[in-house]
Amino acid sequence: MTPYIAPSILASDFANLQAEVEMLNKSQADWLHIDIMDGRFVPNISFGFPVMEAVKRYAQKPLDVHLMIVEPELYIERFRTAGADWITVHIEACDHLHRTIQQIQATGAKAGVALNPHTPVHLLEDVIADLDLVLVMSVNPGFGGQKFIHNTYRKVEALKDLIISRNAHALIEVDGGVNEETAPLLLEKGADVLVAGSYVFSSPDPIQTIASLKSSAK
Ligand code: DX5
Ligand code: ZN
Repeated sequence: MTPYIAPSILASDFANLQAEVEMLNKSQADWLHIDIMDGRFVPNISFGFPVMEAVKRYAQKPLDVHLMIVEPELYIERFRTAGADWITVHIEACDHLHRTIQQIQATGAKAGVALNPHTPVHLLEDVIADLDLVLVMSVNPGFGGQKFIHNTYRKVEALKDLIISRNAHALIEVDGGVNEETAPLLLEKGADVLVAGSYVFSSPDPIQTIASLKSSAK
């Protein structure tokens, strides 16, 4: 299957954000991945609503919002209003995950749940049928440009099995350290969406890099 590609603007040049978004509009990117970090759930702060709204003004593709924040339920409606099409919360940040998934879908957005590298796939057993997306973190969240964690391949495989066994429709998204080396096996194991930050934005020709990720299935 041809994967969806979701470049993470975290690795883009924030001083030229309009040009970066316009580049993504022209590319084969399917979604724009928006990393929101609060300095509490993760040891880093990225950006918030004003920057996301600026991206939305120019983006011609869906915004895939990855919330690395505590108490995400307090901000779901605001992220939807700011232009989120997909809203993903971390399972580790949600005491009432089922309710939060319903809250996201009630806004009209698609709902995703993210798993940190230490969080097992089986914790999703009782919500998988309700989900539109599962984001598998292949690095510890908080920073771009980190080394891919190998165990992710096994997790994607387990998640694909769970989705099939429950007749669920959730897409599998992998985030962190995705590049030409890691992409083919991720796709073989069942990934549907590849997030890529530094690999895209630090390449000499991001449009070409996105195109080759898009065709990286074996
Ligand atoms: C990390 C973020 C990622 C990050 C990926 O916490 O969730 O989306 O931007 O960056 P790369 O592709 O550079 O690993
Ligand atoms: Zn992310």
